[in-house]
Amino acid sequence: MSEDPIICTCNNVSRSTILKTIKEKDLKTEDEVYEATDAGMVCGSCCADIQEIMEENL
Ligand code: FES
Repeated sequence: MSEDPIICTCNNVSRSTILKTIKEKDLKTEDEVYEATDAGMVCGSCCADIQEIMEENL
């Protein structure tokens, strides 16, 4: 298994959770990811990482 870092420390959302949610719900925008996972909803410092994950996986 590869590493599964926590991307959003505020809400304890891991990289695998974000990827899984993007695939399951066919999310297209960062806003959809924030809403679906709760990542990015508190301090916003993880938003750049989430954007990167999305770009890698579109
Ligand atoms: S680290 Fe994601 S909202 Fe703060």
